[in-house]
Formats: sequence, structure tokens, C-alpha cells
Amino acid sequence: MVKNSIEIAPSILGGDHAALGEAVAQIKAAGLTWVHVDVMDGHFVPNLSFGPGVVKALKARYPEMFFDVHLMLDNPHLYIDAFAKAGADLISIHVEPDYPIASTLDEIHLAGKKSGIVFNPMTPVGDVAPYLPRVDLVLVMSVQPGFGGQSFNPVALEKLSALSAMRAEMKLNFRIEIDGGITAKNVGECIARGADTIVAGTEFFKNEKALLEAAKV
Ligand code: DX5
Ligand code: ZN
Repeated sequence: MVKNSIEIAPSILGGDHAALGEAVAQIKAAGLTWVHVDVMDGHFVPNLSFGPGVVKALKARYPEMFFDVHLMLDNPHLYIDAFAKAGADLISIHVEPDYPIASTLDEIHLAGKKSGIVFNPMTPVGDVAPYLPRVDLVLVMSVQPGFGGQSFNPVALEKLSALSAMRAEMKLNFRIEIDGGITAKNVGECIARGADTIVAGTEFFKNEKALLEAAKV
């Protein structure tokens, strides 16, 4: 089984919204390539954030960066084409809303992009199990989605361990991403449990050096 590299994916939701290009420049200057873009519809989550136009502009200016687009939408299947055309490199969709999940994951691949399935702290890991053979990444939420700056919910730790075991048993290589309330203090435990892709908004933009040292990247 291939061991995935450890990637830090700073969330630009935690950056200066008046200067998102500079936020990506800071990520690049830190020697990182993943940029986590949180897309919110004000319906699935009680907040609104960025659209395809923001991804398009940032990808055009930073084509070498890997745009990890997290769709917190009730109807993500209606937006795959728009985000794929905008330049998203990976598109992750939530398991909770009612829409054709499997065919949407296939649509992401047909668009030539990496796919991810996401689940919330209160959602059992069994809910994503049927999709594991289809995806390139599983995103474990350690906060209720909608806002940056929340505290880490340790319920995510058991899910990281469970997913690690399932990945080994099923001889799969999907990435395991953790998202929400990640700090220099808890990143080591998440990696030890099997997370290989680390989203950090607040901590990256407030405490970059400590975070990168703790994650040993
Ligand atoms: C929350 C988003 C997270 C958030 C992370 O809905 O999915 O990516 O921006 O921000 P921090 O690291 O500040 O919790
Ligand atoms: Zn996110």
C-alpha cells in the first residue's frame, strides 16, 4: 500500500478576504502546494463564502497550486462543471444532503479532477463506507461546517483510526483529510491516527511556523 505524503492545505477562509491572492502567495511562500477553498451556500451551512469565480481567478494567477475545493452545498451536483472549469484540482462533496452522490463522484472524475467525500462530526463513518472505492480523498470534519476558528472536536480522532483501518483492509490509497480546529497542539495526534492531509485556516494564518514544525513538513 502506498504511503501518502503529508500535505498541509491552508484554508483561505482563514485568510484576508480583501486579499485572497496574497493568502495564496503566503501558502506558496511556506513551500506548500495545497490550497483549501471552502464553498458555502447559506443552506447546507449557515454561511456564504466563495464561488467558482474566486477559484478561477486564483488558479489563473497560481496555476502551480493544487486547489482542494470543499463544497458545503445542498446541491453540489449542480456545480461540479462550474468548479471543474474554474480550475479546481480536487472537489469534495458532503454525504449528508440528499442528491445522487455516487454519480456526482463519477462526474468529478469524468471532468478530470480528483474526488473527495466529506462527513460531519455527528455523521457515522459507515455513511461514507460505500464510496471509499470511488474516491481519492475522505474529508473528516472535526468541526460542524460553516465557520473557521472553531474548536477541534475529538470525536474525529476515532474516525481517523477507523478510516485508516478500512483503507488498509480494502487495500485502497485514498487520502485522509482532517478539517476544522487544527492547531500545532493537535496536528501530531491526527497524523498519528492516519490523517495525511491537514486543513488549517486560523492556525496557518496566525501560527504558521509552529503548525508546520508540529506537522514536520
Ligand atoms: C469549516 C471549513 C474549514 C475551516 C477551517 O466549515 O470547512 O475548512 O475553514 O478553519 P479553521 O482551521 O480555522 O477551523
Ligand atoms: Zn473545509
